[in-house]
Amino acid sequence: MRLLVTGGAGFIGSNFVHRSLAQHDCTITVLDIMGYAANPQSLAGLADNYPSRFDLVVGDICDKPLVDKLVAEHDVVVHFAAESHNDQSLRDPLRFATTNVLGTIGVCEAAVRHSKRLHHISTDEVFGDLAFDDPHKFTPDTCYRPSSPYSASKASADHFVRAYIRSFGLAATISNCSNNYGPRQHPEKFIPRQITALLSGQQPRLYGSGQHVRDWIHVDDHNDAVWKIIESGQLGETYLIGADGEHTNAQVIAYLLEIVGADPHDYVHVTDRAGHDRRYAIDASSTLALGWEPQHRDFRAGLAETVAWYRENPQWWANSRQQAEAFYQQSETITGNGGDATGS
Ligand code: NAD
Ligand code: DAU
Repeated sequence: MRLLVTGGAGFIGSNFVHRSLAQHDCTITVLDIMGYAANPQSLAGLADNYPSRFDLVVGDICDKPLVDKLVAEHDVVVHFAAESHNDQSLRDPLRFATTNVLGTIGVCEAAVRHSKRLHHISTDEVFGDLAFDDPHKFTPDTCYRPSSPYSASKASADHFVRAYIRSFGLAATISNCSNNYGPRQHPEKFIPRQITALLSGQQPRLYGSGQHVRDWIHVDDHNDAVWKIIESGQLGETYLIGADGEHTNAQVIAYLLEIVGADPHDYVHVTDRAGHDRRYAIDASSTLALGWEPQHRDFRAGLAETVAWYRENPQWWANSRQQAEAFYQQSETITGNGGDATGS
């Protein structure tokens, strides 16, 4: 199988590339703009280790002739490329509309023109947020109610993929996954930001009250689910991916402080995110029904492995942490010191 992986130098995409080359009979071409969120070190060595199976094309998913040519040369497109960070989307919404909406439309057009299979990677954020005590989780039938420019652009992209399926016969599946953690995630995101702070002798930073809930899944479990959908999913269908991993942000910080052996109160509260979604929770029945199951059941153990990866790879994150902190410094202020980091 010849795979075109857009956004393959980012967090989830690069983990997908490594795992796919090691475990599946496929060749992979990565199409990535190599912007601030990409890390060349995430793909280092692959061209040597898999000489005729891996290639990197540096380019923009909005470059229609390039996308058309690449799609024509492959069997399946796995579309990860996106602007992915909510905080960035609050500063520059248009950049998110351009890449996430127009870029996805271009990928759909090329896939239709060349009759190629597309798997579109989306997010649970398209559904908006849940109340803390809502007994329901997101399902494929939940209404779209995005809150941020990022989630609005991903929701719009999903709608376009469905429109291309219905109107032009696009052979596509969609997956909406919850929050991923694991190696090679940019230090602008919550978990690596706190890990790299701790490894740099600095304090973790909790937005607002810290009672917001995210539903964590290990990146390898996400990517295994994507393969299961590519191999066994029904064309036209949407699959929700999650691993029953709900934790408040305060709990996650408490786990990290414990893992590194720090004082449980040694963190700070900072300015909250505008429009901050309260809680996400995924009902993954649609993907479980295909025979996929998450393997990383122990979140704290997965976090400890992730901390170990960042400890062993400081050269991977040093520059991007500096850039991320410069971005946050423009708007973030400390609003309080750490109290009881268990979040209780
Ligand atoms: P990321 O920001 O780490 O990676 C995105 C990659 O896309 C980067 O390498 C970037 O350079 C590339 N890219 C951006 N604009 C591009 C363009 N115009 N042309 C080509 N490449 C471009 O993001 P991620 O966390 O790996 O997320 C990947 C996908 O998964 C996104 O579609 C995101 O919406 C989705 N997703 C992420 C999560 C999560 O928890 N991180 C959860 C569910 C879904
Ligand atoms: O749910 C899937 C989504 O998860 C993906 O679609 C997005 O691409 C991905 O970035 C992620 O979005 P979140 O906004 O949930 O992730 P983020 O890592 O930015 O923040 C996670 C939570 O942690 C959120 O409640 C905000 C909070 N936070 C974040 C940062 C960076 C903090 O408390 N402190 C921080 O320093």
